[in-house]
Amino acid sequence: MVESAAEKTQSIETPEGTFTIRLTLDDLGSIYPGMIRYTVEVLRGTETVYTYAINSYEAPPGSLFDTQEVAEIVFSRLAHDVASRPHIYTRPRLFTRPLPDSGTTDVVILQGSPRRFGNSARIASWCDDEAGRAGLSSRIFYLQEMNIRACTGCYTCYDYGYCPVDDDMPQIIRALESASVIVVCTPVYTSTVPATLKAMMDRCQWLHAREKVLGREVHARGLLVAVAGRRGTEPFVCVTHVVDAFMENLGILPAAPVLIGDLDRVRDVGTIEGLEGDVRAALRALLAPRDEG
Ligand SMILES: Cc1cc2nc3c(=O)[nH]c(=O)nc-3n(C[C@H](O)[C@H](O)[C@H](O)COP(=O)(O)O)c2cc1C
Repeated sequence: MVESAAEKTQSIETPEGTFTIRLTLDDLGSIYPGMIRYTVEVLRGTETVYTYAINSYEAPPGSLFDTQEVAEIVFSRLAHDVASRPHIYTRPRLFTRPLPDSGTTDVVILQGSPRRFGNSARIASWCDDEAGRAGLSSRIFYLQEMNIRACTGCYTCYDYGYCPVDDDMPQIIRALESASVIVVCTPVYTSTVPATLKAMMDRCQWLHAREKVLGREVHARGLLVAVAGRRGTEPFVCVTHVVDAFMENLGILPAAPVLIGDLDRVRDVGTIEGLEGDVRAALRALLAPRDEG
């Protein structure tokens, strides 16, 4: 969470009461170098009835618009608008995007393969079952079957702590926020993760912003279980980097990954002797039994 410095305030007397327009500046340099957020608020008495925010990362390089100038223009326009039609500002108009109240999930399993009955899906089902055996709730997200759009790089998540892209991400964000263990089950695709899983990871910038802007921290351990067609360790070099970066960005502590190669030859993880036990043991090591007391 960041401390705000007030830049400018203006008090406006109206028949609907006294309003204050306030422009504050937040130095978000601890999140990204040079990131500054400008927030313009309209307060009626002490109640915030309208908020507008913009940050310096929203303007692409070479852009003609300057975010500080934009905030100052919004400040003047709001001052004018509040003075000329104060009745519009008598009730709060707060822009937010509440996350679904879908309860909490102990173990969240992100299944990255498009194949509903492929190897990653099989591994996901072992993990789901192992969580159940430990008395924990779990949920597998079959990412390919969800509507997950790519991050647009708009950076507005750092303004309000939510992402404006309208798709199925809120349920994932909600689940990740409450999880104690996060498992990524994925095949290697062109040396990295499949596109939908990558899109989901990028969109978790929203979760990063929620942590930084709203102070909602993720406290989870993470496990990567990856499968690849080719043999050896080489197919996993990029995947482990990508998944580690995803976890590190969110403060998830990764355990040693389980990497399973040679599937172009073997075809089916179910036929690899001892593998199911190894995956279950890797997950079990991260599971703390629920405190029934
Ligand atoms: C589009 C595509 C790209 C792939 N790229 C790689 C790769 O770069 N390296 C590799 O070892 N295997 C690669 N594979 C093979 C898969 O990782 C392998 O078949 C895996 O077992 C599929 O997992 P699934 O059954 O969970 O879908 C690729 C497969 C597909 C369909």
